[in-house]
Amino acid sequence: MTILCEPDAAAAEEHVLPDGNVRRVDNVWDAARLLSAEPAELLVVIGPNVPTAEALRFAEALRPVRPAAGVVLVRARVDVVMLTEALRVGVRDVVPAGDQAALAEACRRSLETSQGLLGSVPEPPAQPEATGRIVTVFAAKGGCGKTTLAINLAVALAKDRRRVCLVDLDLAFGDVAISVQVKPARTIIDALPMAGHVDTTGAASLLTRYRPGLDLLLAPVTPGDAEKIPPHLVRELLTVLQGMYDYVVVDTPAQFSEHVLIAMDASAHHVLLTTPDVPALKNLRVTLDTFDMLSYPADIRSIVLNRSDAKVGLTADDVMKAVRSPIAAHVPSSREVPMSINKGTPIVIDNPGHPVSQAVSRFVRERLERGAPASRPAVASGRRAGGRRAR
Ligand SMILES: Nc1ncnc2c1ncn2[C@@H]1O[C@H](COP(=O)(O)OP(=O)(O)OP(=O)(O)O)[C@@H](O)[C@H]1O
Ligand SMILES: [Mg+2]
Repeated sequence: MTILCEPDAAAAEEHVLPDGNVRRVDNVWDAARLLSAEPAELLVVIGPNVPTAEALRFAEALRPVRPAAGVVLVRARVDVVMLTEALRVGVRDVVPAGDQAALAEACRRSLETSQGLLGSVPEPPAQPEATGRIVTVFAAKGGCGKTTLAINLAVALAKDRRRVCLVDLDLAFGDVAISVQVKPARTIIDALPMAGHVDTTGAASLLTRYRPGLDLLLAPVTPGDAEKIPPHLVRELLTVLQGMYDYVVVDTPAQFSEHVLIAMDASAHHVLLTTPDVPALKNLRVTLDTFDMLSYPADIRSIVLNRSDAKVGLTADDVMKAVRSPIAAHVPSSREVPMSINKGTPIVIDNPGHPVSQAVSRFVRERLERGAPASRPAVASGRRAGGRRAR
């Protein structure tokens, strides 16, 4: 069988493939899902109506986990830059749309290469090394701005060709999809059948592309589905995503669930959010005490004061005294923040010069990017043996 990835059924009909047994899928995520289910599959042909960037990311993700499987790309226009990039990420061949003979020949060659590799490639292939950094945003009180900050941090991190994945771990009431106005066609619930054997192809099939360099792993749409996600699946997914991305930003619910603790265990950085009001500060103090009890190192922790300029009778100094810790970033209050959410465009994209955007970008630069003082690998051990894998 060959997988033909082409959203346009009429265009798909025009592809003459040497293997008559072809299964058409609409997009690369479905192709990844099918590949995961069919370990013997050796060829994916990506049609001209699949965006090149998606096709190349698919090929790049596939290579380490299924080195024997080949990708042949059909493009309406073939230029040197695209060809070079395609070959760099492991595409076997790029053929011009409409050239049936070239396509048949490319498929034949790819299958031949696959057969040759099958003899020499040990299975199962190794997972890519998990080198990405997990950054978890948490506040024990609801409505502090976790989702807003997590989205804007993820956008700010996704530049200079860095790859970032934002994970919505607020499994019951996740707001990431609605906040950036994407349709949650695939969510973490689709990972259930993969539990115990998640690989990069499977993980890639769960993701929603948001913008260049930034993908989303969305929360289930039905609140009841949250309970179906076992904590070990979250651990597995985070490990695989760490191998696929430079940064994995995790948005959380306002409670210490087992899922949240797993994300904390795996994190290189904990971003603890508060607002300048007594209940939020009390909850932050409790969170800090709990983190100390769990032996989470203090140097991977940043306290962010959201709505720092809110005139509510508490100054930044009062806040610092109350939590007995320094504040790493002050994010001002602005009506443009909810306005940006209503528009579905995070404020760091909509208005990069805005004081809120600048505070977020400065925080990313000073605390989260590699080499920033608080992001160095932690030395203290985690709450459970083998639990923390800070990087
Ligand atoms: N700096 C800010 N200025 C003004 N409004 C803000 C700011 N930060 C967040 N908000 C607004 O506060 C509300 C809550 O924010 P958000 O949903 O990010 O909080 P949350 O902590 O994720 O909440 P939940 O616990 O319900 O998940 C939103 O309407 C958001 O637009
Ligand atoms: Mg939220």
